[in-house]
Amino acid sequence: AQANIGVIGMAVMGSNLARNLASRDGNTVAIFNRSAEKTRAVTAEFPDAGFVASETIEEFAASLQKPRTAIIMVQAGRATDAVITQLTEVFEPGDIIVDGGNALFTDTIRREAAVRATGINFVGAGISGGEEGALLGPSIMPGGSAEAWETLGPILKSIAAVVDGEPCVTHVGTDGAGHFVKMIHNGIEYADMQLIAEAYDLIRRGTGKTPAEIADIFAEWNTGELESYLIEITAEVLKQVDPQTGAPLVDVILDQAGSKGTGVWTVQTALDLGIPVSGIAEAVFARSLSSKPAQRAASSALPGPDGDFVVADADAFVEDVRLALYASKVIAYSQGFDAIVAGAEQYGWDIKKGEIAKIWRGGCIIRARFLNRITEAYAEDPALVALVTAPFFVDVMASTQAAWRRVVVAAAEAGIPSPAFSSSLAYYDGLRAERLPAALVQGQRDFFGAHTYKRVDQDGTFHTLWSGDRSEIQAVDAH
Ligand code: 6PG
Repeated sequence: AQANIGVIGMAVMGSNLARNLASRDGNTVAIFNRSAEKTRAVTAEFPDAGFVASETIEEFAASLQKPRTAIIMVQAGRATDAVITQLTEVFEPGDIIVDGGNALFTDTIRREAAVRATGINFVGAGISGGEEGALLGPSIMPGGSAEAWETLGPILKSIAAVVDGEPCVTHVGTDGAGHFVKMIHNGIEYADMQLIAEAYDLIRRGTGKTPAEIADIFAEWNTGELESYLIEITAEVLKQVDPQTGAPLVDVILDQAGSKGTGVWTVQTALDLGIPVSGIAEAVFARSLSSKPAQRAASSALPGPDGDFVVADADAFVEDVRLALYASKVIAYSQGFDAIVAGAEQYGWDIKKGEIAKIWRGGCIIRARFLNRITEAYAEDPALVALVTAPFFVDVMASTQAAWRRVVVAAAEAGIPSPAFSSSLAYYDGLRAERLPAALVQGQRDFFGAHTYKRVDQDGTFHTLWSGDRSEIQAVDAH
């Protein structure tokens, strides 16, 4: 056995991760793929990586030093289950199976329990950063046992992105904690992308600037508070000219956004946990709406506002949009961290929020300058009940909220959809409100279903005899 680590699945993410591992001192990497042809192709393409290639799973297991460690990089779902089954047949107690795909965290919880019963360790690890991250340094969110982390930690640290001398990887928590946090990362990624898209749309339609001009605006934004990978690549995409037509590429791309499921999972999970992740949800719904061509075609003649949308002062509007984006982005992260807190409580994970913000500073898709501020906020107050209430973010809200409102008003008046901007603002105002009309909803529930209510001035549970004399009685039971 020559290899100290193995990778299964030689599609782009898997082969890039294997190359990343191979490039670090002291590593010899075993590789395996379902079709041996692919393994041979990767071995031939990267001779310097010194891969130890196997054509059968038995050979692969034999090529690994004990305790064996293998990272699975295949499609989430059935393919992952199939590889886990194969590996448990050839691995031994003490060995470590890592699933580096985008698995649903409840699948990871199930798999971890099943694999643990054989004495083998199972670690579900979220890996973010796309193809380039896998090759040069991703952000890694491993779950699984503390014992497995002891062996795995140094290897993952050696391949992760590094920010301020610290590798972007931490042991997130047991069983599915890593994949849970990766799922939330993706949810925030969806919100961030949608917010940026809304900002672009508003600027384009309000000022008539070209995609290339807006690319310059994003490039400029990327030198300030909004500095982030997604802002950076947005400028690149907007600058791109279609070689076939000479038009901006963004104008020839079909406006129907796809998805592979992690955003949907985030929202489904948040609904179950009772956590409003409205910015993320609107981002998911915006993709769904975009991908309904028949409904959109049938609705294109629906009435909208009269006249063209032209802002009076383009520079001032662009700055307002920048501030609205910043404010909404804070809300997306605040909501995402709320979901992490609720998930940790529900599933019994000890997740350190500050650590999560730290490992998201580099390597991953949502990496951004302002994650430092989140880390600081949780360092100052680990029990912070809502990120947006940390002093730094209160100041951000103070300096952005007026502009944010102007943008949402302008969008509504112009008939330009800004679901993520406007729902984030509604959430923000909901949080701030001293009294919410939830009191009336409780009254309605009590009226038609005797669902009872509580009072602001007395303990206990109450019901009004709506169909009787409308006096109030003490109720025993709240539904
Ligand atoms: C990452 C990305 C990665 C992938 C998403 C995209 O962190 O590296 O999130 O996991 O690009 O699956 O998701 P959609 O295809 O659903 O947009």
